[in-house]
Amino acid sequence: MTLHVIVLAAGKGSRMKSNIPKVLHQVAGKPMLHRVIETASSLAPQQTHLVLGHGINQIEASLGVVEGSFNTVTQAEQLGTGHAVKLALSHVPDDTVSLVLYGDVPLITQGTLAECVAAAQSGRLSIVTANFSDPAQLGRIARDAQGRINAIVEYKDASAEERRITEINSGILAAPTHLLRTWLSRVTPNNQQGEYYLTDVVGMAVADGIDVHGIVVSNENEVMGVNDRVQLAQAERLIQHQQTDLLMRHGVSFADPSRVDIRGTLTCGIDCFIDVNTVFIGDVSLGNGVIVGPSSVVQDSAIGHGVHIKAHTVVEGAVVAEDCQLGPFARIRPGSNFAAGVKVGNFVETKKASLGQGAKASHLSYLGDAIIGDGANIGAGTVTCNYDGVDKHQTTIGKDAFIGTNSTLVAPLEIGDDAFVAAGSTVTSTVEPESLAVGRARQRTISKWLSPLRRKKNRD
Ligand code: UD1
Ligand code: CA
Repeated sequence: MTLHVIVLAAGKGSRMKSNIPKVLHQVAGKPMLHRVIETASSLAPQQTHLVLGHGINQIEASLGVVEGSFNTVTQAEQLGTGHAVKLALSHVPDDTVSLVLYGDVPLITQGTLAECVAAAQSGRLSIVTANFSDPAQLGRIARDAQGRINAIVEYKDASAEERRITEINSGILAAPTHLLRTWLSRVTPNNQQGEYYLTDVVGMAVADGIDVHGIVVSNENEVMGVNDRVQLAQAERLIQHQQTDLLMRHGVSFADPSRVDIRGTLTCGIDCFIDVNTVFIGDVSLGNGVIVGPSSVVQDSAIGHGVHIKAHTVVEGAVVAEDCQLGPFARIRPGSNFAAGVKVGNFVETKKASLGQGAKASHLSYLGDAIIGDGANIGAGTVTCNYDGVDKHQTTIGKDAFIGTNSTLVAPLEIGDDAFVAAGSTVTSTVEPESLAVGRARQRTISKWLSPLRRKKNRD
């Protein structure tokens, strides 16, 4: 039977105290709702229906980056979870299975959802539950003497005895669509909150003799709901630990896995070492034996085997081949492309710069819109003047060229292989291969010159 996914996300989320809709708050660099949709997508549903209300425009605008097509169902007034699902079901054919998810339960796993759907495929109502250390105001799972699920009792409607139950309703459920539709048509708002409870379908299934299958997740965190920023931070750390645990099992070491943030996808070879306060954003890959020093940020970059990124280095949109050394305090900007063994040291900024094998810029440079040959040495303080206020221009530096300290290279400019630029030069025209360019004022020396201080001393 084909699967339809319904994600509830119409609520206001007032406890977030935010102008941003709750489900767009991010965990591990991704809005919670996008995370839920992506987890559900792994089950290959025929369609995903999003029930939206508060912040609908912002939410719809955010979905452009998520793969797949969504059907948006507007729930103008939040009359309860039962009402929300009922609205979505008008877009779902009878001979399917419906899976109900929540935009604010971001840690749910594919494994649990697959189990939930499988039970519904066999004609049962399947609900995901957990034993909570602090069940707070969540719905309680009522079971009979044989341990079969009888009903879900909402906290506000529960007796003192029922409130002592620690097994809670995550809210996530799956059922054959035609059954769910029939039950929801019978749900009324006759309860403490005057809401249409989705949870009422459990009692109806029992009354109809339909088997209710409970999936008790072993880790309560998997079904934690995010209602405020404290829970958001908890969810963030949980996901971070899931990610670092996985990487450690694949041969990566962390100085401290609780002081790393992965906001995207980090793939690593073996024997990498990742120091504290490092942040990985977007798609980052590290080869084998990469060292990432403390307080570095690496974003959307491919880093080769044996690269050492030293402390306080920022790398963005770069391709870095094996055995390069970057930093400390280097800034590698988009379009930087380094061949093997390149060294880019402290306070060096590169942008759209290709550095050939073994090229070095060890200190205090700006290299933008530059192609630099194998083995070239860029002296401290070298600056490519790539911008004239209107256009960007290219600097090309040949193989094994030597650019002396504090050189100003005014682009467009070509410096040939094995050329030598004297320290302190301002270079504005082509330097042929194997030639020397000196572009600076000649030194004058005045001997026996009396400085004001020496003159004063002579007077006194
Ligand atoms: C619901 C369950 C409760 C469960 C809890 C888990 C019901 C009646 N109760 O509680 O048993 O323990 O979830 O978190 O289902 N929403 C809509 N439209 C609505 C109402 C809610 O889209 O009309 C969405 C909210 O945005 C939210 C989710 O559904 O993402 C859950 O709603 P919320 O009010 O947080 O949960 P409760 O109804 O209190
Ligand atoms: Ca509610």
